[in-house]
Amino acid sequence: MSTAATMAPAPAPAVLLRRPGTQPDAGGPPAVVLRGLRKHFDDVKAVDGLDLEIRTDECFGLLGPNGAGKTTTIEIIVGLQEPTAGEVRVLGRTWGRGDRSLRARVGVSLQETRLPERLTVIEVLRLFRSFYPSGRAPADVMEEVGLGDKARTWTVKLSGGQRQRLALGCALVGDPDLLVLDEPTTGLDPQARLHIGDTIRSYRQRGRTVLVSTHYMEEAQRLCDRVAVVDHGKVIALGSPPELIATLGGEQVVEFALGDAALPDVDLEALPEVRGLRHTGRTLLLATTDARVTLPALLDLTRARGLRLESLATRQATLEDVFVALTGRRLRDE
Ligand SMILES: Nc1ncnc2c1ncn2[C@@H]1O[C@H](COP(=O)(O)OP(=O)(O)OP(=O)(O)O)[C@@H](O)[C@H]1O
Ligand SMILES: [Mg+2]
Repeated sequence: MSTAATMAPAPAPAVLLRRPGTQPDAGGPPAVVLRGLRKHFDDVKAVDGLDLEIRTDECFGLLGPNGAGKTTTIEIIVGLQEPTAGEVRVLGRTWGRGDRSLRARVGVSLQETRLPERLTVIEVLRLFRSFYPSGRAPADVMEEVGLGDKARTWTVKLSGGQRQRLALGCALVGDPDLLVLDEPTTGLDPQARLHIGDTIRSYRQRGRTVLVSTHYMEEAQRLCDRVAVVDHGKVIALGSPPELIATLGGEQVVEFALGDAALPDVDLEALPEVRGLRHTGRTLLLATTDARVTLPALLDLTRARGLRLESLATRQATLEDVFVALTGRRLRDE
């Protein structure tokens, strides 16, 4: 593919010119407001009545399974798709009028990024920087996203994870007020994921807003001030990770499987300190306020019934447990 052909689609999502002298709103109006948002593709209701407010200077996470509507929602927020219905306000504005100045304040890294192939890493960052009236030094951003040793490498020669880091760099180089990252860490190794986490944190410390979608529970818990759990195009839970986990009633989980055998739910729910019971496939999850108490009682019960445990683990509750409690499904295959 020629450079020109490859470059053609790039500016659409990411050429986001920043208004000179624009300062981030501190504690002002919400950065993003969605009301009654819908996006239908024929029979598919990708977004099905979604309401959200993202506060200025928070890191907000969209969490949900494949096909939940995260990318569609994000693309509507950054002005790449038009909603079927509903209200969308971004940094106090609506898309459709004066879009250039709004784009200047939004940095985007999409789930799939096409980069100009015959440019080097530093050239791509300089190109994106040139689209903005103000911003950051491309070389600094390159170091920050961990591509310092790839300055003269053509983008076509980058690994998948390196391309993703470059996409993040392109989103950062205009120093936007709102940074929108769709699955920025999928496919990255754990170290690179931690690195991107650091980048997001340092960007936030400058009082900016981040919207990030992720499949990684642990990442959402670590990075996000608040999270919306999205399923079938709707928000099914909203709050800080500790608030969402608190809805389980117990912050620890005893997870076990009994093979083909079964125990009545009432017996399990009656175990000491148990606050909730969920089934997911063959696995049972007991939310408990104290696993040290629940666990021996569970072992006594299974022994008394002559049952053998196929697997057994205890752990702290996570957002995954919240998702299972809400939907009866797992968000990710473990
Ligand atoms: N252009 C399109 N035409 C038809 N259907 C679409 C289109 N874009 C998205 N969809 C459908 O809308 C639903 C939501 O898709 P979307 O990409 O927003 O999900 P997602 O939450 O980002 O999923 P993933 O975690 O896999 O990235 C899916 O059922 C998808 O097939
Ligand atoms: Mg997606």
